[in-house]
Formats: sequence, C-alpha cells, structure tokens
Amino acid sequence: MEQPFTDADFMSRPKARNKDHMAISTRGYADTAERVAREAGRILVGYFEQLERIDLKGHGNPVTIADRTSEKYVREAFLAEYPDIPVFGEEYGMDGHEIGDIAKACWVVDPLDGTVNFATGSPIFAVSIGLLMDGSPVVGVIFDPLRNQMFTATLGGGATRNGVPMRVSERKLSDGISPVGVSGDIIRSRPEFLQHFSKGRSIGSAALQLSYVAAGIFDAALDEYTSLWDVAAGWLLVHEAGGVTTHWGGAPIFPKTKDDPAFRSEVVNFVASNGLEHDLLAEWTKG
Ligand code: IPD
Ligand code: CA
Ligand code: CA
Repeated sequence: MEQPFTDADFMSRPKARNKDHMAISTRGYADTAERVAREAGRILVGYFEQLERIDLKGHGNPVTIADRTSEKYVREAFLAEYPDIPVFGEEYGMDGHEIGDIAKACWVVDPLDGTVNFATGSPIFAVSIGLLMDGSPVVGVIFDPLRNQMFTATLGGGATRNGVPMRVSERKLSDGISPVGVSGDIIRSRPEFLQHFSKGRSIGSAALQLSYVAAGIFDAALDEYTSLWDVAAGWLLVHEAGGVTTHWGGAPIFPKTKDDPAFRSEVVNFVASNGLEHDLLAEWTKG
C-alpha cells in the first residue's frame, strides 16, 4: 500500500526540481483513483434509466440512489486502501472521518456529476475524484462511464484521455468556432455572458466541461454555483493540459487551507480556459 507523503515530502513539494519525483509518487494514487472511478461508473450505469425515485436535497437539486451508492463505494474503497487520508464527498461530507489535517491530504469526490442528466435520462454524467495534497490537487480523475472515457492528470505528469496525452485548444474566443461551456445557472441568471461566446454549450456536468477544456474540445468553461468536488479533479486536468482555471475575476482557487469554506460545501465558482484569453474571461466574470 502506498503511504501518504511525509512532512518532509510536503515541505519539498513546491520546488520545480521535484516535479518528476511528484509525478512518480502520485502515479500510484492515480492508478487507485482510476480503478475506483471505473467501478463507481459501473455502479452508476447499473442504475441509469432504472431509477424508481428521485429525491430532492433542495429546489432543483436532485439526488438518487446512484449518487449515494457510488459515494459509499468510493469512500469505502479509498479508506480501505488509504486509511490515513480523509474523503470529502458531495453526499456525505467527511462522514465523521476527520482524520488528520484535511488540507494536508484529502480525496475530494463527486460520485455522480450531472445528476439532473442522469435522473432524466441524458447520457452525460461522470465520476470526479481529486486528491489534494497540501491544499492543492496532485491527482485528478474524471470518468465518463457511458463513453468509457477516463480523463487523468497527475501534478507534473501531464494529462491524458484513455492514456493518450491531451492538450488544450489553440482557438481564440473570436474565432467563430469557439465552444465554451456554460451552465444552466448562467443561462438563467447571467444571459448577457452568452453574447461573448459564438458557440455556448451547456452539457450539465461541470466535471465534463473541465475535461473538455483539457482535451481541447471546449476553449473555455465557466460555472457559478459549483463546489470543491466539481472542480478539484478538473482543475488539475486543465492545468496539466496547458490551460488555466481560476475563480471568477481571476483569483487562484488553490491552495485551500483546512478552514476554507469550500470544505463546508460552500460555492467554488470557476472559469477555465486554454489560457489564450483568460484575462478577458476574468474581466467579464469580475464582481
Ligand atoms: C452539478 C453539475 C452542473 C453544474 C452544477 C453542479 P451535480 O453537479 O455539475 O453542471 O452547473 O452547479 O452542482 O449536482 O450534478 O453533481
Ligand atoms: Ca457536481
Ligand atoms: Ca454530484
């Protein structure tokens, strides 16, 4: 079993000369995350188009047996393999396992991103798993089970889709064919944003929108009422594919300290892009 980093590892991590070492050290965690995401995806597919009921956590915020079963599986799988690393998930938070310092090492899990799609029969959803070390993502895995697409990144180790390296696009927003992911919330509450984008797209999964920016499918993506579990894995995918993800207005999202409201499920908005015009996107989303 691979052990979490020691204090000495944390202290040395930010230095560039340790980048290769980081990539090697995190590969084991990434392998586990891929295996767990694939199994969680299998659980989701088993429930897809078979749901007997949909519960509501709040207005417009559904949850299903698939979300809960997937997260229970992911949580147990990680705690069995890495008992010293807490798991922070959308459905169960820390689930009483407040082990050590969450900002030092923590799995951040969205067991089903795209629940509205899933619950209504749209085949666009994913499992998202990020590993934060020292408050920043070092592993990011997003798995789309229906398309069998595994998006993976390790810090310093690059980003891949089904094992093939991926890079962000080189298009500009003014190119005319510039797909930009937005969300239902943006369409409803900030329709003026859509005028900036020649090809606005809303696919109903923040994790897949970030994966698509990393894969060069979308040139940018933004969402307003997302949470840490929507962003942790995708942030690293975009970063390792050569792009940028910040909060609206351009402030960095990571590192997170243990007292950050994100660990209390508060909003973590994001704007991700291929980096070419990130300043412009930051300007538009300011205030
Ligand atoms: C939602 C999706 C959606 C985004 C929402 C998220 P969920 O996640 O990612 O695209 O716009 O903000 O809450 O609830 O399906 O896991
Ligand atoms: Ca989500
Ligand atoms: Ca979810």
